[in-house]
Amino acid sequence: MSKNILITGATSGIGRAVALECLKRGYKVAATGRRAELLAELKRAAPGRVFTYLHDVTTGGAAQIIAVADKEMDGVNIVLINAGYGDIDLDLKEEVELKTVNTNVFGFTDAACAAYRYFKKNGGGVLGAVSSIASFRGGWAAPAYNASKAFVGNYMEGLRVKSYREKSG
Ligand SMILES: NC(=O)c1ccc[n+]([C@@H]2O[C@H](COP(=O)([O-])OP(=O)(O)OC[C@H]3O[C@@H](n4cnc5c(N)ncnc54)[C@H](OP(=O)(O)O)[C@@H]3O)[C@@H](O)[C@H]2O)c1
Repeated sequence: MSKNILITGATSGIGRAVALECLKRGYKVAATGRRAELLAELKRAAPGRVFTYLHDVTTGGAAQIIAVADKEMDGVNIVLINAGYGDIDLDLKEEVELKTVNTNVFGFTDAACAAYRYFKKNGGGVLGAVSSIASFRGGWAAPAYNASKAFVGNYMEGLRVKSYREKSG
């Protein structure tokens, strides 16, 4: 099996760490994020094996990113939906709550649907997403964050059963 992974939110934190680990293991990596300079830095870490896509997940369009990565890397075998946002929001500010939902629910769903359809059409693959231990219970300090991560876990469970029922790989 070839090793081509697409990671959303690979400019920092967990996504960047997974990208570097995959590069160490010989993968080709498609990395997305909004910070161009950090994407360029990742590209320099392994010339010829990193493909970067400037993308804000709250705008949709994950299917196009996957389609371009498919061409540039000669196939995508693994998609890791990692891009996420959360902040303590004691005043329940709409800007924080809605940014969380737009990133962790809208952005996640856009990528999950696109990746599932891509794998179904292309003989299967591995789809992963980063949820959180915060998903297990409602949270008083960042309610949208906990709820959004519960959505991620529940949705992924749905896709796992869907994949089993459809034998879509
Ligand atoms: N750190 C923890 O303790 C922890 C625990 C449980 C779960 N998580 C989850 O792990 C994932 C990674 O978090 P992290 O801790 O590594 O945080 P981080 O360092 O802030 O990384 C977040 C990543 O998501 C990307 N991102 C955020 N909003 C985006 C948007 N609108 N469009 C595109 N990319 C966006 C960021 O890229 P740009 O800013 O370049 O766009 C960045 O690459 C998240 O889903 C988070 O909820 C983290």
